[in-house]
Amino acid sequence: MKIAIVGATGEVGRMMITCMQELSLNIDVLDLYASAKSEGEVLYYLDRPIHVRELTNSSLTKHYNYVLFAAGAGVAHSFAPLAAEHSDLVIDNSSAFRMDEDIALVVPQINGHLLQGYHGIVSNPNCSTIQMLLPLAVLDKAYDLKKVVASTYQAVSGSGHKGILTLQKQREGSTEKGIYPEIIDLNVIPQIGVFMDNGYSSEEEKMLRESRKILGKDSLMLSATTVRVPVVYGHSISVYAEFSSDISLPEATALLQKAEAIKLHENSYITPRAIGNSNESHVCRLRYGVDKHSLSFWNVAHNIRIGAAKNAISIMEKHRAFINSGSQNV
Ligand SMILES: NC(=O)c1ccc[n+]([C@@H]2O[C@H](COP(=O)([O-])OP(=O)(O)OC[C@H]3O[C@@H](n4cnc5c(N)ncnc54)[C@H](OP(=O)(O)O)[C@@H]3O)[C@@H](O)[C@H]2O)c1
Repeated sequence: MKIAIVGATGEVGRMMITCMQELSLNIDVLDLYASAKSEGEVLYYLDRPIHVRELTNSSLTKHYNYVLFAAGAGVAHSFAPLAAEHSDLVIDNSSAFRMDEDIALVVPQINGHLLQGYHGIVSNPNCSTIQMLLPLAVLDKAYDLKKVVASTYQAVSGSGHKGILTLQKQREGSTEKGIYPEIIDLNVIPQIGVFMDNGYSSEEEKMLRESRKILGKDSLMLSATTVRVPVVYGHSISVYAEFSSDISLPEATALLQKAEAIKLHENSYITPRAIGNSNESHVCRLRYGVDKHSLSFWNVAHNIRIGAAKNAISIMEKHRAFINSGSQNV
């Protein structure tokens, strides 16, 4: 298999390498690209040293089976269409193409069927959306999801490596705001992204629009409040959800217990510090909401793993499985 990672030196790019190593993927060619400042840096895949190269116009004109983008929307807009012309599949982690009608927005456990026979660019959803939708999609199938109210507590690594550096410097005494609108150390900031005319932030709008697209449910009502907190890795979300049907709590519990990529904690809860290297979306404090049509729960997941890199690698794996099963020709 021939793979390229664009943005290999960033939080998501490095984690993509880790996730592939954890699967011991047999990779014949792994080319790593980043900006000019990282040219020559050495990263490792299963003890194999690989020199990072500057991304240029000619980098992606050769054939790769998979090109994984983790370098932001600007780089994706400039280079992903070119990569898609020459490769089997491009998987982009940025928001560049997520809402394009012709581009699939995929969480493999929810709508992975879209990858069958798929070519071109596929988008990886927003991190909070992925972890929240994994349990909600299971409950939607059983009870028909109507409305969601979500409040997030998002780690600084969600802003990339600069987010971590900003928190680190402030913990060492710096009074500079860094990449955030306010000091993040010992604080919480109710702004992620830019505010729009309707009072919501761009991150909150992403959670609404991407949830509707992934679930194929234009009627879904969702109000999110997204908040940055001084946590390094792991987003938490307080989720309240309303459904059409009556819910049986023991049945909902059993459904989540056996669902793929979900870890349900009964009679206990989990915090971002405790999730370690988990690739699951953790659900705890599951309870009825205001009545038997609604549920409330606490949701925690590793934003760089299940919220980004692991989802991208799972997209690649699922696409490859369709090819290997002979159900599509690439
Ligand atoms: N962090 C998360 O929780 C998360 C979750 C979901 C999605 N995402 C998305 O994933 C993408 C990457 O995020 P991140 O957190 O990994 O950011 P990051 O830590 O800031 O890393 C950015 C990467 O992009 C590379 N890059 C920047 N400009 C480039 C250019 N002109 N050409 C080639 N490479 C360039 C950087 O290379 P240098 O090191 O050389 O600068 C670095 O490898 C973003 O689109 C982000 O929105 C992130």
